[in-house]
Amino acid sequence: MAASTQSPPHARSDWTIPQDWDRYTAEEHAVWDTLFARQTGMLEGRVTSAFGRGLDVLRLSRAGIPNFVELSQRLEALTGWRVVAVPGLVPDDVFFEHLANRRFVAGRFIRRPDQLDYLQEPDVFHDLFGHVPLLTDPAFADYMQAYGAGGLRAQQFGALQKLARLYWYTVEFGLIREGGGLKLYGAGIVSSFGESKFALDDPSPNRIAFDLERVMRTDYRIDDYQQSYFVIESFEQLRRQTADVDFAPIYRRLEQLPVLAPDAILPTDKLITRGTMAYARR
Ligand code: PHE
Ligand code: FE
Repeated sequence: MAASTQSPPHARSDWTIPQDWDRYTAEEHAVWDTLFARQTGMLEGRVTSAFGRGLDVLRLSRAGIPNFVELSQRLEALTGWRVVAVPGLVPDDVFFEHLANRRFVAGRFIRRPDQLDYLQEPDVFHDLFGHVPLLTDPAFADYMQAYGAGGLRAQQFGALQKLARLYWYTVEFGLIREGGGLKLYGAGIVSSFGESKFALDDPSPNRIAFDLERVMRTDYRIDDYQQSYFVIESFEQLRRQTADVDFAPIYRRLEQLPVLAPDAILPTDKLITRGTMAYARR
């Protein structure tokens, strides 16, 4: 892959920018508060306990958009991660390099009041509320760092798409088995009012036990609710089955296998719920 594009003129060479926390308006802080109240209500009993612990120890609250510097101080004391602001999407290698160094890149803008329900671009609510609480979990924190290092490697193998599917179906849209039931942990779900209900309760999607190679073969939709969710047993399992494994032979093997559609079911899948696909067909 080519060396990354140069950072924009107003950004540093690693693409970070100041959050400029003082520049948020009262209306922008109010959007955070509204989203925070609505999401914490919705997530009650539905989200992994690690997420709630993360919100508490980081003191994320309904008190306006968090200041990245203060948040990073608390987070760094726990797992060594920090949060840095970027102007928007950054090149892959820049993203991986930050993760590999325990820096989570976050957008600083917040959606408008008329975009509470849906926004395709990640904003500061998705990035902070969705992603940062789990960075307080030691196993998940290790997984994310290893993912960054793995991204830099995957570029050399031309395997970015496969690795991106792993991120999608874990970090963004993962489910976890906990206390005899399923719970949410993916940031794309926990920051979405609609999908945090759909992913657990709706009969439409498949819910399939996590399998690394299976996930890395599965296409995904970026413009609607997922048709399949993959369920891990623990963050420890996720870390063990990724960080401790050499992906090079897996990438090679997967080259020989067809890519799977988002709604595919394989005979080898450990199905937890077989989706009706009623929503997907509508
Ligand atoms: N172990 C993987 C490799 O060999 C890297 C990786 C770690 C990927 C954690 C994803 C998550 O490339
Ligand atoms: Fe995200």
